[in-house]
Amino acid sequence: MRKLTNILVTGGAGFIGCNFIRYLLEKAEGFSGRIINLDALTYAGNKMSLEDIEAKYGATIAKRYFFEHGDICDRRLVESLFVKYEIDTVVHFAAESHVDRSILGPEAFVKTNVMGTFTLLDVARNAWKEAVSSKEAAGKPHQNVLFHHVSTDEVYGSLGETGYFTENTPYDPRSPYSASKAASDHLAMAYNHTYGLPVTLSNCSNNYGPYQFPEKLIPLMILNMLEGKPLPVYGDGKNIRDWLFVEEHNSAVWTIMRNGVSGETYNIGGENEWENLKLLNVLIDIVCAKAKLDPAKVRGTITYVKDRPGHDRRYAIDCSKLKRELNWKQNVNFEEGLSRTVDWYLANPQWIESIRSGEYQKWVEKNYGERG
Ligand code: NAD
Ligand code: TYD
Repeated sequence: MRKLTNILVTGGAGFIGCNFIRYLLEKAEGFSGRIINLDALTYAGNKMSLEDIEAKYGATIAKRYFFEHGDICDRRLVESLFVKYEIDTVVHFAAESHVDRSILGPEAFVKTNVMGTFTLLDVARNAWKEAVSSKEAAGKPHQNVLFHHVSTDEVYGSLGETGYFTENTPYDPRSPYSASKAASDHLAMAYNHTYGLPVTLSNCSNNYGPYQFPEKLIPLMILNMLEGKPLPVYGDGKNIRDWLFVEEHNSAVWTIMRNGVSGETYNIGGENEWENLKLLNVLIDIVCAKAKLDPAKVRGTITYVKDRPGHDRRYAIDCSKLKRELNWKQNVNFEEGLSRTVDWYLANPQWIESIRSGEYQKWVEKNYGERG
């Protein structure tokens, strides 16, 4: 098992990153070190998501949580952080993450996802010269430094009605988002293969849970229901996604960081496939029960809208390698995860207000008008 001490978390003010930091400090086994959260606070990053963590772990004498505002493309800044905090581990969440945005404006995706990942890898390689010495090191499971790259199942393209993505499925990205993530995955593995940088990589299916930005399906639908807005379904609503509660993703990432073999990819999935429309109907029942709304009335607001260009039909992950080799298992079923997610959105109107009053709301209005 690796001993990970000073962990640089990139994108820790975003959805999965902030849940990861909370998980590591409050729940994960085997971590007593420090977390350095590097985040550019784009429209998707919100410091409010970690206010409680900042107060509890960032203000004591034995500080364990540090926030650094900055861009992962800023090489000098990243180099200085490696020195200042004696970084031995990187877990790289920072990204432009929304497919619809990548269709409207792909450049930011190439910058952050490709160039940003390259910058982090290159700085890590130089900073960890002594540990990164040979190709042989690439295959060794337990070393004292590690770069964990967080990626998506979307790099594998789209499935037909049957079959699953495995770690051996050829890459076939089809949106600017997935293409930029695929490029970053290749760079991470190339740094492992060529320079011996200890790298693990995970490709995960769709996440949901607290703190998710309401441009993604589940939080967008929850908030639109609560606000009496239309529920926009792309195309015929029969696209399929494999949903995973965010804490389960993070427990998998932590498991891989501690025990995963350098140079290996691990697929993470929920084994939980849903057609969008069926999922929406379940969500309507949960939200209406909790918020005392009339489900028939809310169902009446389902609106079929123009399909997303290049919309992938089906994603489904085979995560048997992770279960078999690293003993990972899920603990939260879909009903419980959705229920906890809806509870969280109902209990946190200030968080919603804080993100909706800024850049995000302006962007939604400009690009989608009423839909958002
Ligand atoms: P998010 O959009 O909610 O958060 C991204 C975070 O990165 C934000 O805090 C943002 O401020 C920060 N960021 C963006 N550009 C940056 C830059 N140049 N420098 C520093 N920080 C920057 O994303 P998320 O949903 O939390 O996804 C996190 C990671 O997980 C991404 O790499 C994504 O590809 C991957 N992933 C997400 C899902 C999902 O369902 N959300 C599924 C699989 C994999
Ligand atoms: P999304 O949450 O954007 O994740 P991804 O595209 O990365 O899988 O979308 C999930 C699914 O929901 C996808 O098939 C597109 C669909 N969708 C809608 O039908 N309406 C919406 O408003 C959104 C945001 C997504």
